Amino acid sequence: MEPNAELYEDLEKVLLTREEIAEKVRELGRQITLDYAGKKPVLVCILKGASVFFADLIREIELPLTLDFIAISSYGSATKTSGVVRILKDLDNDILGKDVIVVEDIVDSGITLSYLSKILMQRGAKSLRIATLLDKPARRQVKDLKVDYMCFDIPDAFVVGYGLDYDQTYRNLPDIGILSPKIYEK
Ligand code: IMP
Ligand code: MG
Repeated sequence: MEPNAELYEDLEKVLLTREEIAEKVRELGRQITLDYAGKKPVLVCILKGASVFFADLIREIELPLTLDFIAISSYGSATKTSGVVRILKDLDNDILGKDVIVVEDIVDSGITLSYLSKILMQRGAKSLRIATLLDKPARRQVKDLKVDYMCFDIPDAFVVGYGLDYDQTYRNLPDIGILSPKIYEK
C-alpha cells in the first residue's frame, strides 16, 4: 500500500504534485532573493496552513533573513465579512522598520490578509509584501488586496495537503488535492 493511501482516497484528484510545487517554490525563492538583495527581510508564517510552504520557501531564499510566526482565526464571527480577524498567537518580535514578507497558504476572500496587512503596517513595518502558495481569485471579496508573490492560481474548489487542512486533517500530504465533496457532505 502507498504511504497515506487512506488520505489519498478522500481526494477527487491530485491538483498539484510535490514536484510541481517544489519547482514553483524554488522559482519564488530565487525571485525573493533578487528582489531583497542587500536587505534582511522578516518572513512571517501564518500558522498553521502556511507552515509546510514556509519551511520549503525559506530554504530557497539566499539572504540573511529572520523568521516569525503568527496564528490568526478568520472565522471568529462566522458569517460576518467585517474584516475582523482574531490574533491567536502574535509575533514574537517587533517589526518596526523591517521589510516584512507575510507567507500564506491560500488567499480566498482576502479578508484575513487584508486585515493582517493593516495591523502589520500600523506597527511601523518599513515595507510589507504578501507571498501565497495558492490564489483562488474567483472567491475574492477584498478587491484591492495586492498579492505580490503567488505560486499557483487555482479554480474554486476546496483543496488540502502541503499544509492545507480540512478539519485539521490532510496537512501532511506531500501533494495538493481537491477534497472529494463526499467528505464534507458526511
Ligand atoms: P480568506 O482569504 O480570509 O477568505 O481566508 C483564507 C484562509 O481560509 C486560508 O488561510 C485557509 O486557512 C482557508 N482556506 C481557504 N480556502 C481553503 C481551501 O481550499 N483549503 C483549505 N483551507 C482554505
Ligand atoms: Mg490559513
